[in-house]
Amino acid sequence: MVARVIPVSPFDLVIFGATGDLARRKILPGLFHRFRVGQMPEDAAIIGAARSQMDSGEFRALVGAALEEFVAEPDRTPETIAAFLSRLTYVHVDAKGDAGWDELGAALRADTTRAFYLSVSPSLFGSISKQLSTRGIATAESRIVVEKPFGHDLETAKALNADLLQAFDETQIYRIDHYLGKETVQNLMALRFANSLFEPLWNSTHIDHVQITVAESIGVQGRGEYYDQSGAMRDMVQNHLMQLLCLIAMEPPSRFEPNAVRDEKVKVIEALETVAPENIVRGQYRAWNGKNDYRGDAGNPASRTESFVAMKLAVANWRWAGTPFYLRTGKRLRARASEIAVVFRDPPHMIFPKMEGRKGNALVIRLQPDEGITLRTTIKEPGPGGMRLTEVAMDMTFADALGSDLHSQDAYERLIMDVIRGDQTLFMRGDEVEAAWAWADPIIAAWEDGNQQPAAYDSGGSGPEEALMLMHQDGRRWRAIGA
Ligand code: BG6
Repeated sequence: MVARVIPVSPFDLVIFGATGDLARRKILPGLFHRFRVGQMPEDAAIIGAARSQMDSGEFRALVGAALEEFVAEPDRTPETIAAFLSRLTYVHVDAKGDAGWDELGAALRADTTRAFYLSVSPSLFGSISKQLSTRGIATAESRIVVEKPFGHDLETAKALNADLLQAFDETQIYRIDHYLGKETVQNLMALRFANSLFEPLWNSTHIDHVQITVAESIGVQGRGEYYDQSGAMRDMVQNHLMQLLCLIAMEPPSRFEPNAVRDEKVKVIEALETVAPENIVRGQYRAWNGKNDYRGDAGNPASRTESFVAMKLAVANWRWAGTPFYLRTGKRLRARASEIAVVFRDPPHMIFPKMEGRKGNALVIRLQPDEGITLRTTIKEPGPGGMRLTEVAMDMTFADALGSDLHSQDAYERLIMDVIRGDQTLFMRGDEVEAAWAWADPIIAAWEDGNQQPAAYDSGGSGPEEALMLMHQDGRRWRAIGA
């Protein structure tokens, strides 16, 4: 199957922080890919805006080097790179001062979709959006894109929302959670709402529990200073895992339309019960074989920040009462493996002799890597000599079924094109972010008040023993990471 490419309309995209890490690694390579496949129109313009003093030629050279570093060789030729770079210009802009704003305004075309991507510290969201609106650079049709971290807690998230809303309407604001741009994450919605097979079973009558795992093998990767202030709860659970939980647990929206989808997600967050302390495990990786110690990586020998969280959650509504959701995420685990396992209840009455170790039906959605879906099914073990049962997986690997091309698209590519199209479905609404913080804040506050030490776990392992116990005490087991 070949990916269909529908070109978007012409646009002027201004990237604030265009010389920064995210722009070089993700935003500009993502735009390049959309240009290469013909989705970004020839007359689209990308305007880099940043503090550094440089001209457009120097900016193009910087972006050219980034493309060589972050775009795989078969996907780039000197000609396509040159053609892409010709769409780029640069304006030196002082976010808090006067320099550059007139030039920026003059660089934008009338009657062309304008989007402003704030790839900068959240502390600049307020001043940049104010400058854009008071100087008339942003119009009522313009879009503004912001990145995570969207706040450090509810109070700061509210302040950021207020900053943006003084200059933009909610319908113009695109808050990125890059997990929503992942093909397989969007596929959760297709799986649930485009098939009639699953929905009748999608409730606590049939589902025993759900496991959501986002395991990373990397550590804090030179971001120790940021990460040590955040920890896994703020960095991953409040946003990415929360989004996954919402997509799995939400009611079917009446339409695939931004507010219909986001309304249902907010209801899930609001239905979460307060999590009892015994249902949460925090962990911190320690050196194994003398390597990879969190405190060393974070440059904080006394750090109490968690690099791992596991928790048992209850969604208090008619659909889910009685079905726990177990979430876990961590760094320096044994593999990079993210998946959602929906584990079904046993048949109400077993006519076959009991079989030790039988795990029952589970629908496993592999988010990354090796994206696909497996349905664990019980069948008869072949051969004579009675009725022995065994388990096999009905396995669909998307790359085999659809071709690897379709799944190589990075989340950012998809999301930036959605901004240009004006489709907010895969972006977080302000109240959604605030609801997620309102849920996370008391948990974090309790850790901080109690000066709680996270449980240690070996780098390259499966997380702390206590996380395994969280399941064992309920007579359940985590799936092996990277199984
Ligand atoms: C980011 C976090 O949002 O997501 C990182 O800040 C994390 O700490 C990353 O490594 C994981 O994203 P992905 O796409 O690699 O699963």
